[in-house]
Amino acid sequence: MNNTLRHSEIAGVGHYVPERVVTNADLTTLMDTTDEWIQERTGIRERRWFEEGKDTTANMAANAARKALEMAGLTPDDVQMIVFATLSPDYFFPGSGVLLQRELGIKDPIPAFDVRNQCSGFVYALSMADQFVKTGMYDTVLVVGSEIHSSGLDISTRGRGVSVIFGDGAGAVVLRPSTREGHGILSTHLHSQGEHAEELIVKEPGSNRNNRVEYVMANELDMYPYMNGQNVFKHAVVRFPQVIREALDQNGYESKDIDMLIPHQANLRITQYVQQKMGLTDDKIFSNIQRYGNTTAASVPIALSEAVQEGRIKRGDLVCLAAFGSGFTWASALIKW
Ligand code: UT7
Repeated sequence: MNNTLRHSEIAGVGHYVPERVVTNADLTTLMDTTDEWIQERTGIRERRWFEEGKDTTANMAANAARKALEMAGLTPDDVQMIVFATLSPDYFFPGSGVLLQRELGIKDPIPAFDVRNQCSGFVYALSMADQFVKTGMYDTVLVVGSEIHSSGLDISTRGRGVSVIFGDGAGAVVLRPSTREGHGILSTHLHSQGEHAEELIVKEPGSNRNNRVEYVMANELDMYPYMNGQNVFKHAVVRFPQVIREALDQNGYESKDIDMLIPHQANLRITQYVQQKMGLTDDKIFSNIQRYGNTTAASVPIALSEAVQEGRIKRGDLVCLAAFGSGFTWASALIKW
């Protein structure tokens, strides 16, 4: 990290979740599962599913972004760049970043791009935005994570190991240069290990075969997410503490200095393991997976937004964001709020 550069800070946060609540009991009418199994293995009680014709990946992001901009005292016209993290874009191409620009009515030809890093997507996107603000290239960057999983899940007993976990939603932050010495994003840490790429994957439609449209029509099962849950779990419980420690070490802090840890909401059991490993009390770690399930790239900004809304993060607090997921990819960000 080059300390001569300015820091960026989160000037506004916001989130949006679809209205439709789908409880574990609702899922038992669609597949062979139970509320007990889901709660015991994941902590999830309910999640949100989008409404076709109303919610889209881009317009959910716009709803979250408007709230974040309002909190920052800004309007969409102030945005100088959009970084959009999603694994469930509206279209195969173009990315959802340009659709968000349109949704927000931004007429200036500002840069807008997508980040495809699944559960770590938001922290990766935040890191990218941070570089642009730190160097002085842009002053106001909108960073969003938005996902619609429910339209792409195998909602049958065959897909129950994955489909009970994921939910829909969106979260956003606005990055601005910090005016307070020593505050803002202190550092970000990004990692990946592509040898595990197929452990959590949606394989199709892939581009590397002839006649991919025909292939997909004949092999529709490959369009559903596949997860080697136990292996993902094993790696997650190692990588989360590692990447959090990396952030603390770089800045001369210890885990006892953390005021709020916002982990990607992968599984309540993973979060509890990380909490215990880092020696954090209940008030220093945030969980909302019980209500939203795993919303991949949207989970960190939704959790951050709720934590701020609930008054659990105060000025001057040391806040750590951390994520792990498909790729494998993992990341953290340490913030002096
Ligand atoms: O966000 C990205 C990162 N993702 C994660 O971190 C997820 C990490 N993994 C996990 O959270 C867990 O592996 C899961 C919650 C996904 C699964 O829990 P598990 O303890 O690893 O269960 P399992 O896949 O080993 O399945 C155990 C049993 C199986 O039955 P048998 O073979 O033992 O008879 C499954 O068929 O549970 C069965 N099962 C279910 N039963 C009821 C799987 N899904 C369900 C279900 N309801 N929904």
